[in-house]
Amino acid sequence: MITVDSRAGRYDIHIQWGALDDLGVLMHSAGVAGAAFVISDDAVGPLYGERAATSLRNAGLEASLHTFPAGESSKSLDTVRGIYDWLLHHHAERASTIVALGGGVVGDVAGFAAATYLRGVPLVQVPTSLLAMVDASIGGKTGVDHARGKNLIGAFYPPRIVVSDPSLLTTLPPRGLRDGFAEAIKHALIADPGMLDLLESEANRLLAVEAELMVEFVGRNAAIKANVVTQDEREGGLRMILNYGHTTAHAIEAVTGYERVMHGEADSVGMTVAAEIGRRMGVTPASVGERQARIFERYTLPTRMPGLDVAAVIGAMAYDKKVASKTIRWILLEAEGKPVIRDDVPMDVVRNVLADVLR
Ligand SMILES: NC(=O)c1ccc[n+]([C@@H]2O[C@H](COP(=O)([O-])OP(=O)(O)OC[C@H]3O[C@@H](n4cnc5c(N)ncnc54)[C@H](O)[C@@H]3O)[C@@H](O)[C@H]2O)c1
Ligand SMILES: [Zn+2]
Repeated sequence: MITVDSRAGRYDIHIQWGALDDLGVLMHSAGVAGAAFVISDDAVGPLYGERAATSLRNAGLEASLHTFPAGESSKSLDTVRGIYDWLLHHHAERASTIVALGGGVVGDVAGFAAATYLRGVPLVQVPTSLLAMVDASIGGKTGVDHARGKNLIGAFYPPRIVVSDPSLLTTLPPRGLRDGFAEAIKHALIADPGMLDLLESEANRLLAVEAELMVEFVGRNAAIKANVVTQDEREGGLRMILNYGHTTAHAIEAVTGYERVMHGEADSVGMTVAAEIGRRMGVTPASVGERQARIFERYTLPTRMPGLDVAAVIGAMAYDKKVASKTIRWILLEAEGKPVIRDDVPMDVVRNVLADVLR
C-alpha cells in the first residue's frame, strides 16, 4: 500500500489485480460511504461501468453511471457542465462520492467536477490506463483545457483513495499503453535507475501486461510519483523534476494540435531533446542519452520527429504555464536518477538541438 500525504489529508493508493471488484469494500474501509456517482467515458464505461457499479452495490452503496465521449477534446468546461446537470438531476449531495473510472481525461474532468460541485464532494480515482495508474491519478491535479492551452483551468483536489486494477490494462490499445511506458521510463530516469534494468530485461512481459510483474511495476511507479508529490504538492521545487522532457513535449503537442501526436511520443522526443541539451552543456553523460534512446526504441517510442517548425516549438515553450517568468527551466540529468533544474540553457543550444531532433 502506498500513501500520499497532501495538505487536504492522506490517501492510500491500492494496487491489486482484480481490485475493481473490491471497489465498494475498499471505499468503505477508506470511510467513503455516500451514494456513488461513477463518471467514465464511452470507451471505458461500457467495458467496466457495470462491474464497478455491482461492486459498489454489493458493498451497500447506491451507484449510477454517467459517460461522456472519450478523448482529449472532452476535457472541457462543457463536459463539466454536463456532469453538474447530471449530478443535480440525481440529487447528488455533499456526502455523495464521485468515482472517476477511466484514463487521465476522466480523472482530470471528474476530479475537477468533484472539486467544484457543492464546493467539493469526496473523490475516488479508479485509473484504467497505464498513464493514469502511474501518473495522473496521483497528486491531486484536476482540470480541463481551454482554447488557449491545455490544463489552464483546474484545482488541486486530492482523492480519498486511489484504486488501481492493472488487469484493466489488458483492454487498453497498444498506443495507450505506450503513453504510460513513456511516463514510467521518465520515472526511472529521474528517480529509480534500477527500474531501467527492469524495463530493459522484462520488456516482453511488461508489454504483454503480465499480472504479477505489472502489479509490481505499477506499484513501483506510483510510489515514485507519490513520494515526489508528498514532498512537494504544489510544484514549488521537487515536483518540477517530473517535468523531465515535458518542456519540449508540451510545446510539440501545442504545435501539433494535441491530436496527431500521442503524449508518450512527445515525451520520448522531449526527453531526447533534454538529454542532448544536457550532453552539449556538459551536464549529461552521452551514455545516459544512448541508453534512454535504446529503451524508447524497445517500447516503440520515437526519438525524432521530423517536419516540425523549430521556431513554432520554441514559441510554444515560452507560452507554457510552467515557464517561470521569461527563462525556460530545463530538467537535465547529471546521471541516471540525478535530475537537476537549470535555467541557464542558452537559447541557441535549444535551437540547435531542436533543429537536429525535429529535422
Ligand atoms: N492530473 C495529472 O496530474 C495528470 C498527469 C498526467 C496526465 N494528465 C492528463 O491525462 C490525460 C491523458 O491520460 P490518458 O493517456 O489516460 O488518456 P485518456 O483518458 O484519453 O485515455 C486514452 C484512451 O484509452 C481509453 N482507455 C482508458 N482505459 C482503458 C482501458 N482499460 N481499456 C480500454 N480503453 C481504455 C480511453 O477511453 C481513451 O480513449 C491528458 O489529458 C493529460 O493532461 C493528468
Ligand atoms: Zn508525459
